[in-house]
Amino acid sequence: MLIFTKIADLRGFLKEIKSLGQSVGFVPTMGALHNGHISLISISKKTCNITVCSIFVNPTQFNDKADLKRYPRMPEKDAAFLENAGCDVLFMPSVEEVYPTEKKEAYDFDYLNTVLEGKFRPGHFNGVAQVVKRLFEIVEPDKAFFGSKDYQQVMIIKALVKQMHSHIEIVSCPILRESDGLAMSSRNTLLSKEEREIATKVPKIMIEAKQLALNKGINEAKQFVDNEVEKVSLMKLEYFEICNADTLKTITDNNVPKNAIALIAVFVGKIRLIDNLPLN
Ligand code: PAJ
Repeated sequence: MLIFTKIADLRGFLKEIKSLGQSVGFVPTMGALHNGHISLISISKKTCNITVCSIFVNPTQFNDKADLKRYPRMPEKDAAFLENAGCDVLFMPSVEEVYPTEKKEAYDFDYLNTVLEGKFRPGHFNGVAQVVKRLFEIVEPDKAFFGSKDYQQVMIIKALVKQMHSHIEIVSCPILRESDGLAMSSRNTLLSKEEREIATKVPKIMIEAKQLALNKGINEAKQFVDNEVEKVSLMKLEYFEICNADTLKTITDNNVPKNAIALIAVFVGKIRLIDNLPLN
């Protein structure tokens, strides 16, 4: 695996690769890699000749400075993990390399930026869009792979690519889970033993809420989630919504229509976890 820290060096290498007609798949990450990230590498490897992974803890997408400070960083372990997974190129730039100037960019994602993660993490998607656009311009991949764990993020990236008039194909990949159902996440490593046990409740609540929504209606499912989270003092619900999976508009009807998805954000102690589950 080749490791680059400088844009010019990476672009020099990729120029040669592309001149040979090889396709490039791209997996942007913030490191502290787990098997969820590695699954994106594997999917890229299946359809692209060369797979590039980036590790960059992007300061502009953290609306909470404490979250940025405590974000886990383990570059050597990550590099070994990627090498093992057969990743071809790792790009690990510094903040100065990605943002040589302090230029702030504003994006307009309209409704999509006003709900769920957009509502509770103001400025977050603007930062995500800023860094992903920058990375796309550096790597110029044929395809880029994102996890549907960050469901709304995938929708934002698709909107971004449209706004950029770019031909990069955005591939949405399945959520990888731990054996107890908890969605894999870099932030899981920050949970204490007690919090990690409590976190197991998140996927269980989601599955039960799905059954309730389908059998008894959305109102009862929402009430159930409120009650379940309320029972545990270390848990605090930020949102639980059942939305149209294409628009993220909240479903106001009590019955579950076709193409619905449940999405949750919940604190376990200080750690914020998100998850989602399609209802059909
Ligand atoms: P990060 O949280 O490191 O995630 C990188 C990619 O891995 C994202 O596309 C995310 O959805 C995916 N991923 C995370 N957990 C997963 C899981 N359990 N199963 C499948 N895929 C999973 O998302 C970001 O970084 C950043 O916002 C980024 C896009 C890199 C921009 O900075």
